[in-house]
Amino acid sequence: MSDIQSTAERTQSRNSAGVAKATDRVASGKAPDTVLAPVITIDGPSGSGKGTIACAVAEELGFIYLDSGALYRVVGLASLQLTIAEDDTESLVNLAQTAPIEFKRSLSGDSEVLLDGQPVTQTLRRERVGDRASRIATIAPLREALLERQLRMRRQPGLVADGRDMGTVVFPDATLKIYLTASAEVRAKRRHKQLIEKGMEANIAGLLADINERDDRDHNRAIAPLVAADDAISIDSSDLTIKEVVTKVLDFAGNRL
Ligand code: C5P
Repeated sequence: MSDIQSTAERTQSRNSAGVAKATDRVASGKAPDTVLAPVITIDGPSGSGKGTIACAVAEELGFIYLDSGALYRVVGLASLQLTIAEDDTESLVNLAQTAPIEFKRSLSGDSEVLLDGQPVTQTLRRERVGDRASRIATIAPLREALLERQLRMRRQPGLVADGRDMGTVVFPDATLKIYLTASAEVRAKRRHKQLIEKGMEANIAGLLADINERDDRDHNRAIAPLVAADDAISIDSSDLTIKEVVTKVLDFAGNRL
């Protein structure tokens, strides 16, 4: 087997608890493909830690993990590589529909995003790519094209999906919806620490300005703006450790799965 295995395969093979739940549902008389897998959504602004938390919760439950922001980033990256203009909606939508994007996991456990077979996980984190992603995310038909891809990720034994509109638009019937926040200052400091650890240059004031600008665009866009779903549980992670947030989410999930 290649050293890369799909997330779904890996989570299915090692998750006895999740598979048992799926089997219980089958035993209850319903055909497996007519039973919608449970979904936990984690929405929130850039840098709130939702990716880290969602990944850890998925790991813990043996669920599939969907990083929806990565989808927007991959389309953003591909559009930069192909020099497609920001206002060329038709080409951007076509890209969102057809770009060969895969989510994989290496055997070492790291998740990997592939574009046309090439690993792009690190490149996706660049500010330029994030900025392009947030700009093209305002295009309604592009969001529609990515919606299809996101819905296809909902498979047994379950899905943890993070993004901006997971609980409001993509999975409105989710089993548990979390809205994760942290102050802009804390988010800028976290991002600064990450960049410094990677040996990259960074300045907190610049990062804070970027975060505020992106928040503003995500909150105020006409389509699928970043907003907590009415039935979401809000968690402010400013003064919490990753472990504390994961424990909270698993506690809430435990009552509902
Ligand atoms: O979460 P991340 O920072 O990777 O997302 C990149 C950009 O993609 C966000 O700034 C946001 O504009 C957009 N996005 C979105 N809806 C999602 C996920 C991300 O509009 N569900």
